[in-house]
Parts: sequence; C-alpha cells; structure tokens
Amino acid sequence: MNERTRKNVNEAFIGEAKAYQRLLMYARKAESEELPQIAKLFRAVAESEGIHARRHFALLEKVSDTQTNLENAFQSENLVNGVYYPKMLKEAEEDGEKTAMVVFSQARDVESVHAKLYENALKHMMEERDIDYYICPVCGYLNEGIPEENCPVCGAPKEKFYKVE
Ligand SMILES: [Fe+2]
Ligand SMILES: [Fe+2]
Repeated sequence: MNERTRKNVNEAFIGEAKAYQRLLMYARKAESEELPQIAKLFRAVAESEGIHARRHFALLEKVSDTQTNLENAFQSENLVNGVYYPKMLKEAEEDGEKTAMVVFSQARDVESVHAKLYENALKHMMEERDIDYYICPVCGYLNEGIPEENCPVCGAPKEKFYKVE
C-alpha cells in the first residue's frame, strides 16, 4: 500500500478504535443517568465505529491462524510489559504525574499476566479445557476461575470481579 495511505488508514483505525471506547463509556454514563434509549444509541454507534475500526485494521494487518495469533499476542504483551509501559512509567514519574504512574504500573503488571495466560494457552491449545475468566473492573486483571482473593494488582475487592462472556 502507498505509504501515505497506509499512514491514513492507521490514523483512521486509531480514531475509530478510540471512538468505539469513548462511545461505550458514554453509554454507561447514559445508563447511570437512566437514559436507556440514549445509551442504546451510543452502543449502536459504537458498534458501527467498531466495524470501521476492524475494516481499517484488515487493511493494515492480515489476521493469521490462531497458533500464530497466540504467539503474536504473547510477544506483544511482553513488549508492552517489558518496554513500553516501563518507559511511560519512568516518564510519568519524571513529570510528577502520580495518577498516570499508578495506571501505567498496574497496566504493566496486568500485561505480564496476559503474557502468562497466552503462554499457557499455547501449551494447551489442543486440550479440552473449560476455563472461565473473571476480570477486575478497575485495573483489568484477569483471573482464571472465580477469584478467591482481592485483586493482586490493584486491591479491588474480589466481589467486584465479573465473568467475561
Ligand atoms: Fe495485554
Ligand atoms: Fe484490579
């Protein structure tokens, strides 16, 4: 693909992916304000932006077979956990941005859990397993099965975890 167009597709992907998340947050807010129809509209437009994001992504990268995807996902978790977040954390520290420091360091810790989950999945890909994942709504920490302890990354109470469907 032409370099400029590729850059534009990448920017369009980032914009649509961001809009998708933003609109889902708007939908939650509308729900909390008891405006279900508006919440539904935000979710509907989010879904539509999601389609745009995926179409753009398909122009940027080919989605491979699952074994390769697991390997890629594993490597990218290691990269964010080992390189990107530590750099961002250090810079937030230099800038005295305390909230960003907490968010970056917790995200970094959760990424290392993702890497372990992928590594494990690669080893057991062909086995029949039925594991439910429970997620911490604060920091995104994932637990295999119902959590027995509070979140090891951010300390959120275990009762707050919800099952990923
Ligand atoms: Fe991750
Ligand atoms: Fe957490």
